[in-house]
Amino acid sequence: MPRLQIITASTRPGRVGSTVAAWALDEARRHGAFDVEAIDLAEVALPFLDEPQEASTGHYVHQHTKDWSATISRGDACLFVMPMYNGTYSAPLKNAIDFLYDEWQDKPVGLFTYTAGPSGGLPAIEALRPILTRIGFRPAERSVRVPGIGELTGPDGFRAPAGLDGELAGVLDELAKLAADADASPAQV
Ligand SMILES: Cc1cc2nc3c(=O)[nH]c(=O)nc-3n(C[C@H](O)[C@H](O)[C@H](O)COP(=O)(O)O)c2cc1C
Repeated sequence: MPRLQIITASTRPGRVGSTVAAWALDEARRHGAFDVEAIDLAEVALPFLDEPQEASTGHYVHQHTKDWSATISRGDACLFVMPMYNGTYSAPLKNAIDFLYDEWQDKPVGLFTYTAGPSGGLPAIEALRPILTRIGFRPAERSVRVPGIGELTGPDGFRAPAGLDGELAGVLDELAKLAADADASPAQV
């Protein structure tokens, strides 16, 4: 079974990202197309990019980069569970992306955003998607967007609005298909 990595892209103390990601993890396990692995950027704890050479060279000098590379290399697809900060994607997520290059090539990726305000994070998705394509990811066309996150999270975790499970299932279906297409494509000669 392909491995889906659900990456929590907020790192600040008190974040709601971890409870939203926990919900997405349960749903992805229920969906059944993937072995699901949780990755928390707060635990990965990368510094700001400190590699002397560009990631595309594949020359990593720091152990944290080698560890991050090994983590992402074992995945077949990923889902970014990400807040929108000041109208765009979070800086920790972009930093974590910038550390690697080959590891992201042809990687199916889904985007799951949430916001305090009414947008649900669409501007962050629109900003990130072309960057992901340029790097070499294969982004799913569908996405999950949750507005009003403050009213949906609390001590009991994340109270998903009706229908959100179906929206996430749509993204996961797409990721499963993209991951299967990658397996089926002939080797380059
Ligand atoms: C730095 C920062 C910028 C934010 N910018 C926006 C924004 O542009 N639009 C919005 O609706 N909410 C914004 N918020 C509110 C967040 O959506 C809300 O705090 C959410 O819980 C953040 O996710 P997190 O708790 O996982 O960090 C912002 C929050 C922070 C901390």
